[in-house]
Amino acid sequence: MPFSIAQLIEKRKSEQYALHSWYINPSLARAQMIIGFDKIYVRGEGSYLWDADGNRYLDLLSGFGVFNLGRNHPVVKQAIQDALNADRPNLVKMDCPLLAGLLAEELVKRMPPGLEAVFFANSGADAVDTALKFARAATKRPRMLYLEHAFHGLTLSTLALNGGEEFRRGFEPLMGGFDAVPMNDLEALEKQLRQRDVAALIVEPIQGKGVYIPVENYLPEAQRLCRKYGTLLICDEVQVGMGRTGRFLCCEHWNLEPDIVTLSKSLGGGYVPVSATITRRKVHDATFSRLDRCQVHSTTFGQNELAMAAGLAALHVLDEEHLTERSATMGEELLKGMAALQGRHEMIADVRGKGLMIGIEFKAPKSLSLRAAWTAAETARKGLFAQLVVMALMRDHRILTQVAGPDVNIIKLLPPLIIGDEEVEMIVTAFDAVMAEAASVGGRVWAQSVQLVEHALARQV
Ligand SMILES: Cc1ncc(COP(=O)(O)O)c(C=O)c1O
Repeated sequence: MPFSIAQLIEKRKSEQYALHSWYINPSLARAQMIIGFDKIYVRGEGSYLWDADGNRYLDLLSGFGVFNLGRNHPVVKQAIQDALNADRPNLVKMDCPLLAGLLAEELVKRMPPGLEAVFFANSGADAVDTALKFARAATKRPRMLYLEHAFHGLTLSTLALNGGEEFRRGFEPLMGGFDAVPMNDLEALEKQLRQRDVAALIVEPIQGKGVYIPVENYLPEAQRLCRKYGTLLICDEVQVGMGRTGRFLCCEHWNLEPDIVTLSKSLGGGYVPVSATITRRKVHDATFSRLDRCQVHSTTFGQNELAMAAGLAALHVLDEEHLTERSATMGEELLKGMAALQGRHEMIADVRGKGLMIGIEFKAPKSLSLRAAWTAAETARKGLFAQLVVMALMRDHRILTQVAGPDVNIIKLLPPLIIGDEEVEMIVTAFDAVMAEAASVGGRVWAQSVQLVEHALARQV
């Protein structure tokens, strides 16, 4: 019988959660069911997903930031199909592939001054790991600094830079020599740098887990201190790059000139995993220092044709459709709409963000009856209220969102950069309705709390 992926999908489509429960991650499958996210999506296009019954969902999760261009963009799809149809000589390895050279050239054009050498890999953590190795090789120093609350991936090396206890617990001992410093505390940073043994300081210019934005002078001053003490500055732009915050790189908001930039996620146009670590030439050359060390750092699928084709097409679309500028203008509109809700709903503590990376933080209500419900939920599990809002947005408005990290009462919005006025209005209206319902203890938002609290107490969510 000939192989047909379409027939296979059609035949087995109702089994996806069962298959995951059997063969992949039963805890994750169960969590999706408990929070009402166990949908069977059959199609994705632009900012939306569709389920088997034809219901449409607005996707504000964007695959954790993969779909800046929206889903299934026809230009990227065509580029990949063309590359496939051309039977390209993929992954020869002992050559210098054209498409990798072209994508490197396009990336360098978009970098701050001085960043002109590119290393391609497959994931965000891969890119960060590369940056750490390059920094050690270039400075001959052992230590790394990262910011509290940071997230740079979940491999063993990137976990050592992770500011979340939830992620670290159970995997110790982590790699040594990696120390956290508090964001916005320049004195604490200088105290560490003064020891002159720090290879690099790594920062997400806006932190993903919580959407924390540094105060205005922090990053420029941190860069100045790094220069003073011979430490490299790495800007991890895996989530905030590619136009997400209204600039191609988020670090442009502060006119930074980092020594290393990492990119991934939407660089693959929503189709192919790919990442890039872009450095100063001398940083790159310190790793690949001699002919016999020209492959001392490498990854099998780096520079693969489909990823390079997708990357070239993704950059083209970002420019042609002015998506970075769109992210800035639509982000401002969305921020304004959400900030107006803050005045109306006492449990919204803060609305912040840049471009289309927006965080909504919640706080305990003042009214006594509501406060009892809040305390019960938060005692069972910190951040549970934000999860209730995520569930209500899905259940009543078919909007996909995410809690911005473990143990925080913050929702993060990462819509595709193609959203328009219609989507902004949908988002604001939906939040308004959910928060109005959450203002009444008898409302459906809190009704789900009891169920979640039980699961949280059983440590199953
Ligand atoms: C800033 C940042 N760096 C690195 C990573 C790790 O990327 P990946 O999951 O592709 O390994 C992430 C993932 O969310 C991220 O947000």
